[in-house]
Amino acid sequence: MTTETKHSDGPLDARTVIGFYHVDLQYKDQKALSNVHFSIDNGEFLCLTGPSGAGKSSILRLIAMDAFPTKGEVMVRGMMSSKMNRRNIPKLRREIGFVFQDFRLLSDRSIEDNIAFAQLVVGVPRVQIIKNVMRVLTQVGLYSKRHRKPHELSGGEQQRVAIARAMVNSPKILLADEPTGNLDPVTAQEIIDLLFRINDAGTCVVFSTHDHQIVKTFGQRVIVVNNGRIESDVKRRGPVDRSANLADNMYGGTKSQNTANSSVAYVRRQETTHA
Ligand SMILES: Nc1ncnc2c1ncn2[C@@H]1O[C@H](COP(=O)(O)OP(=O)(O)OP(=O)(O)O)[C@@H](O)[C@H]1O
Ligand SMILES: [Mg+2]
Repeated sequence: MTTETKHSDGPLDARTVIGFYHVDLQYKDQKALSNVHFSIDNGEFLCLTGPSGAGKSSILRLIAMDAFPTKGEVMVRGMMSSKMNRRNIPKLRREIGFVFQDFRLLSDRSIEDNIAFAQLVVGVPRVQIIKNVMRVLTQVGLYSKRHRKPHELSGGEQQRVAIARAMVNSPKILLADEPTGNLDPVTAQEIIDLLFRINDAGTCVVFSTHDHQIVKTFGQRVIVVNNGRIESDVKRRGPVDRSANLADNMYGGTKSQNTANSSVAYVRRQETTHA
């Protein structure tokens, strides 16, 4: 059965953890977003997709309040973009972990030091840092490689370190901008499975991707952004259809196309959970 779920309708709904309220974003000479209006409920797992230049990274930057709307309002965990000042930004940033396509690890430090650094800068006591680093490295399966430098790891392993670093302060929201962009398909799916596990543990996850295969098999909510606008916003849940034609038009696909094989990722998630 196919389900399309209604989401909470704006920044003031109690379930909303992230709310965009009729948002425009104008860079100096470029309008990046127009009338973007959606919200994300607590614990959701959301995929942002769409062509290059559509505005996906801009949406993630607005959530991190690394950019501010030129019109409308963004709300993140009760904090409003129009009321943010410099003093509030560190508080917001502690609620958010950010992962990038190019990992952004410090090349001259071991992976455990890369993660510890994220704790040092927010003033966590040393004993707690050691425990937290061990916990997140174990979660991403890299504890045994903790003394290595980033260049001594594969791309997928480096991205797992970046995810561990993003999670070490136990953020409520994990943002990942093209986290699989530099990875082969199998490794990319492992990263998505890791994001599923993080979401299962209660963190709201928002990631962007160009990857048609990931979008086709993603059994959760998918927002398609095109030319700075939300083109569709569909929550998918349905029976497995692994025979679905992967060459279908992804961005312009109808809702029934979208739902055809939508629970593949859901099934994979069950397999992962029970492994
Ligand atoms: N700092 C900036 N200054 C001016 N224009 C920008 C800036 N950042 C992005 N843009 C423009 O805003 C639009 C949206 O960019 P954005 O990076 O959000 O797209 P995207 O969907 O993430 O693309 P991609 O898939 O290539 O990463 C593009 O037209 C881009 O050129
Ligand atoms: Mg981008």
